[in-house]
Amino acid sequence: TIAVLDFGSQYTQVIARRIRECEVYSKIYHYTTTAEELKRDGVAGIILSGGPSSVFDKAAPIPDKALFDLGVPVLGICYGIQLMGKLLGGKVAKSKEREFGLGTLQIQKPGRLFYRLPKKLKVWNSHGDKITELPPGFDAIGTTDNSPYAVIEDRKRDFYGIQFHPEVFHTERGTDVIRNFLLRVCKVAQDWTTEDYIKQAVKKIRQTVGKSRVILGLSGGVDSSVAAALIHKAIKKQLTCVFVDNGLLRKGERESVEALYGKHFKIDLRVIDARQLFLRRLKGVEDPEKKRRIIGLTFIEVFEKSLKKIGHADFLAQGTLYPDVIESVAIGNNPASLIKSHHNVGGLPERMKLKLLEPLRELFKDEVRAVGAALGLPREVVWRQPFPGPGLGVRVLGDITKAKLDVLKEADAILMEEMKDSDWYWKVWQSFCVFLPVKSVGVIGDERNYAWVIAIRVVESIDAMTADWTKLPYDLLARISNRITNEVRDVSRVVLDISSKPPATIEWE
Ligand code: XMP
Repeated sequence: TIAVLDFGSQYTQVIARRIRECEVYSKIYHYTTTAEELKRDGVAGIILSGGPSSVFDKAAPIPDKALFDLGVPVLGICYGIQLMGKLLGGKVAKSKEREFGLGTLQIQKPGRLFYRLPKKLKVWNSHGDKITELPPGFDAIGTTDNSPYAVIEDRKRDFYGIQFHPEVFHTERGTDVIRNFLLRVCKVAQDWTTEDYIKQAVKKIRQTVGKSRVILGLSGGVDSSVAAALIHKAIKKQLTCVFVDNGLLRKGERESVEALYGKHFKIDLRVIDARQLFLRRLKGVEDPEKKRRIIGLTFIEVFEKSLKKIGHADFLAQGTLYPDVIESVAIGNNPASLIKSHHNVGGLPERMKLKLLEPLRELFKDEVRAVGAALGLPREVVWRQPFPGPGLGVRVLGDITKAKLDVLKEADAILMEEMKDSDWYWKVWQSFCVFLPVKSVGVIGDERNYAWVIAIRVVESIDAMTADWTKLPYDLLARISNRITNEVRDVSRVVLDISSKPPATIEWE
């Protein structure tokens, strides 16, 4: 294991990702983790992350100094190098100006860290303080215009410091620098591969579960699908999956879940038809947040009832991912410092006395996709676009009726088909239709047709925090619009949503 000590940088997770891309297992630790604990975990190397603090702050996060006595290599990045300067007897100064953005790194002595890398590299900087006097034992091996100590090393103790951010995309060959640290300095094995992970996970699931039964709420999304396939591989018939049809799913979704998990994987799949109940509860409700609440509570109720029917189980499985479980270090206004809430099914595990089984807890999203693909899940599932929990419930604006849902499902199915046929589906973040509760005049033959309006929403995004509307080709848009107005009854007009987020949101409600 390579330990990434988190000092509140927004890039901490990116460092962990880069390490895993090098097929080395990495884990993020809170900066207060003691050297003793790191030793117990058998870490082979330590990376000190960047962070928003200055080592001069009164409340600056300081790690256990004893980690420098563990005899394992340490790499300090940004704030991490400042810490090394301060804790190992060098001098650090507050800079008048913050060095921010791209700079040129000049390597004088490649050593192990810059082994076989170019002598000149564009690197991404973002720091205020800098080292002005090296700690004893250290040499400077790289410089930037702004800093004679951009890269420092203590070869004897295998301590390295880097002023810039090797983990960010803008830094040239940054991953190679990290790989050199892992393979040439820490000398760890590259054994974090999907196949190895699956083998280990299967073994661990079997050990944890024993002869008990496991229940999993299958939503059809990537995380619960991969969790289902993985757990099923480990314990076969001891796993029961529950899929709730709330009537707010897209056209054909329930059927495809039945075909894939029930027929293909032969998982014990219980499909609960709760369409009527959801519709009844939602009748006349217009407020989006109220709709969300009703859908959420009704889901828990239906799920809980189904558990009683299924009979005794010991575990509730969930597709919780690594980013959901890391409690990021909260410093300043760093966006990474928002503590993620665990999305348990409304306290269900405690109430039903179920233990949690979360086999994906160590994985990032793209690792989950790789595991899914290796387990034989189709591309449609592994690379499916995000779909909100309340489903079409927040895409029929205002009051929801079966008739409106049916119109939306038909229109949305056409959009999906065209997006997939043209390959655009895989290139965008989300693409969907929205039912607008507005009537507009159209004409069919000689007849006036007073019917509904459908909006098309297609966006590109990295993390759903910001999004830009996608400039689809006009001929594709024309085909989608033609098909919807011709094939879906009660739709007279199709409009395109050209708002970005912010200020608009991705969903309309
Ligand atoms: P917004 O509309 O806030 O959406 O820009 C950001 C991302 O979140 C999804 N979304 C939801 N997901 N329950 C969910 O599970 C919800 O209530 C919900 N509302 C929005 C949305 O599809 C987008 O990916």
